[in-house]
Amino acid sequence: MEEIREITQKFERYSAHSHITGLGLDEGMRAKKIGGGLVGQIKAREAAGIIVKMIKDGKMAGRGILMAGPPGTGKTAIALAISKELGKDIPFVQVSASEFYSSEMKKTEALYQTMRKAIGVRIRDTRRVLEGEVVELDYNMVPNPYNPTQKVPESATITLATKKERRRFSVGSRIALQFMYAGIAKGDVIIIDKETGRVTKVGKTSSGKRFDIEGEEIVDVPDGDVEKDKEYTYVVTLHDLDEAKARRSTILSLFSSESREIDNEIRQAVDEQVKDWIEQGVAELIPGVLFIDETHLMDIELFAFMNRAMESEMSPIIILASNRGFARIRGTDVVSPHGIPLDLLDRLLIITTEPYERDEIRLIIETRCAEMGVVVDEKALEKLTDIGYKNSLRYAIQLIAPASEISKTRNSGKIEIEDVERAESLFVDVSKSSGYLKEWEEKMLS
Ligand SMILES: Nc1ncnc2c1ncn2[C@@H]1O[C@H](COP(=O)(O)OP(=O)(O)OP(=O)(O)O)[C@@H](O)[C@H]1O
Ligand SMILES: [Mg+2]
Repeated sequence: MEEIREITQKFERYSAHSHITGLGLDEGMRAKKIGGGLVGQIKAREAAGIIVKMIKDGKMAGRGILMAGPPGTGKTAIALAISKELGKDIPFVQVSASEFYSSEMKKTEALYQTMRKAIGVRIRDTRRVLEGEVVELDYNMVPNPYNPTQKVPESATITLATKKERRRFSVGSRIALQFMYAGIAKGDVIIIDKETGRVTKVGKTSSGKRFDIEGEEIVDVPDGDVEKDKEYTYVVTLHDLDEAKARRSTILSLFSSESREIDNEIRQAVDEQVKDWIEQGVAELIPGVLFIDETHLMDIELFAFMNRAMESEMSPIIILASNRGFARIRGTDVVSPHGIPLDLLDRLLIITTEPYERDEIRLIIETRCAEMGVVVDEKALEKLTDIGYKNSLRYAIQLIAPASEISKTRNSGKIEIEDVERAESLFVDVSKSSGYLKEWEEKMLS
């Protein structure tokens, strides 16, 4: 069984934003004061809601958005809320611009590959699949070879059940990782593509539903055999297709590392193939979203490349985020708004985020505590709010987890002010974050 190589989600990075479930808009596209885990930032959220609608209606292709605002004002949070609103069928890829600079490939190649990860192709096909309700799932965990403090699944055994039968399978690490990333659990109905190893979650059976608010689709336990031919549609990305084709066209791929450059001929061939499928009516293009955080780390070459690539019909919607006012465009001596070249700025819709009021910071911290399942006492909450207001919101949010650990060492089920103070003294980020803020202010003034 050949397994899918690429797993684009990186759940660690999302953890600071796990309280964000959506944009929190009402039917009239107006932002509720608190909704989807987001507090305030009303205009930015409503603007983001319109963007989501345009993306869903296919009216955003090849265009871009810039989220601009001071550090910690929710740019990344709102971008992730957009991804939640788009649903799982529209690809959403998040990267930091720093990830384009690696020793493995040219930066423009890294950018191009990432852009193609954000374009989906929905294909209708008959596949050999395993389908059923998960009745048992056990991981065989081993220490991560690169980071022994972490454990990763080396393999897993899974039992799938239909109304007719039950079968048990063992799968390798790549499929096991997909189970993990997708949060597959007992009671889920899933489909595993036998050939590619792609795992799709169909929904939950009513027995697997734990809470009313989960918002997952309730489905029946499937009929018939676990293993069968099934006509179904699935979404792959252009990058998946590029890689598959590259792998087929060279025996060297057996020995090469995971990430490498892809020939432009291969990409052209894939584009032709996809256009053919579209003409035959078996495929459909879904422009997804590429969110590039820390945009100031992009240099002139990357900007120029991206600007050109955005003109292609196979371009994703680009969301950039910048916390710089006026800044030098990397790789040049030119100073430009947000450090972004003017020709690119011209094609971006700009959404700004504003600094928070004290009561909003308090609400954000409360929301975050509730999501983490920790109880904070009134005074401790005030203290955290102070920190969020005077230092930075991110720092205040980061202190919640250690403060909660410290409260446990006192055998208290509640964070109190002393716990916050202790956490603050142990994890001093003040000088760094205030230096950062100063830099921001200077940039704003210059
Ligand atoms: N309006 C909000 N409602 C709820 N949580 C928020 C809101 N704004 C920010 N947060 C949370 O505060 C923290 C900092 O926000 P975020 O990382 O989105 O800021 P940012 O604007 O991207 O900052 P930077 O410019 O430094 O990247 C995150 O944990 C985020 O989830
Ligand atoms: Mg950010």
